[in-house]
Amino acid sequence: PPLRRILSLADMEAVARQVLSHKALAYYSSSSDDQMTYQENARAFTRFFFHPRVMRPVSRCDPSSTILGFKSSIPVFISGAALAKLGHPQGEANLTKGAAQANIIQMVSSNASLSYEEIMAAASPSQPIFFQLYKNTNDDVAEKRVRDVEKLGYKSIWLTVDAIVAGNREKDIRSPWALDDIESGRTAFHVDAVDGAVEDSDVGLGIAGALVASDDRDMTWEKTIPWLRRITKLPIVIKGVQTVEDAVLAAEAGVEGILISNHGGRQLDYSFPPLEVLYRLRRQRPDIFDKLEVYIDGGIERGTDVVKALCLGAKAVGLGRPFLYAQSAYGVPGVVKIVQILEREILTAMRLLGAASLQDLIPEMVERVDWQPL
Ligand code: FNR
Repeated sequence: PPLRRILSLADMEAVARQVLSHKALAYYSSSSDDQMTYQENARAFTRFFFHPRVMRPVSRCDPSSTILGFKSSIPVFISGAALAKLGHPQGEANLTKGAAQANIIQMVSSNASLSYEEIMAAASPSQPIFFQLYKNTNDDVAEKRVRDVEKLGYKSIWLTVDAIVAGNREKDIRSPWALDDIESGRTAFHVDAVDGAVEDSDVGLGIAGALVASDDRDMTWEKTIPWLRRITKLPIVIKGVQTVEDAVLAAEAGVEGILISNHGGRQLDYSFPPLEVLYRLRRQRPDIFDKLEVYIDGGIERGTDVVKALCLGAKAVGLGRPFLYAQSAYGVPGVVKIVQILEREILTAMRLLGAASLQDLIPEMVERVDWQPL
């Protein structure tokens, strides 16, 4: 269908499901075990209802924000997700160009299917791009990667800590591994574990298992954060915090931000939905929000979802699958369309809540209800 008929993120996903290969769809859509966390990530938003305020001037309404000090047209970023080329020949470059046109920020996955140089080459001048780091077991290999991306101009390091082993994603495992699905073959495939990949998947780990095979399983707050600080001047965000306790430890470790995330339900099944963790953090440790920026991702599909997270103290939210689906279905214009849809939905929600700016979104505007809507 023409892009103008796409009214929601759900519409976009429906188109992507038609055009993606079986393997690509299996990899993109898969989540762990019985998909409880995957489903609850989205369902958690249905438990939070608004207390809208009326008779407030909102004809001027500004949804723009900053993330680590970098401007963003809406409080939304692209969460780093691997292998965009599985869905579209231009892969990650679609996300880069779409982000530039829509003035949002892309986080590039360590396991991108274009090289980090190629992605930077697709960027417009002074476009900020973030880098998601999977830390290699070997410190020297990991250090080189960080230094390389800093030199290339990436603006922050998002260290993923929730994927030291791959979650059990049966859809992905059942779907045969095929490097030749990625147009330009092995060499374009930017992972440490390329050679191990094929054998690993033969023993039944799927794409996910192959990609994390060389990741460090022994990271600690005491060792890994100072190590990263020593080798880079870039701001550091911890991606994959899932408890109030770890949010506090991250603040004590002095990082610039945390992304409360369970990897879109692809890692530990029955891990709490990020919105629920954010809600608990806001109630138990409101002081943490003054020490670092807090973001969430997982299951975000509507402008109201974004606004609920912001009411509870998130600085911005990330989306993974929706951007992969959009670039697969329509390339760059699809990515821009997602931002347009979200921007319109966010503006509508803000105005109807009586909030003229993001600062007006406060915890009192949402209530967690104990009834589950049908
Ligand atoms: C991911 N995610 C991810 N995270 C990461 O740190 N490094 C990675 O390489 C990937 N790769 C990846 C591939 C695919 C296909 C998906 C769907 C996800 C997780 C991602 O950054 C993000 O946390 C989730 O996608 C957020 O959930 P939603 O928005 O997809 O529901």
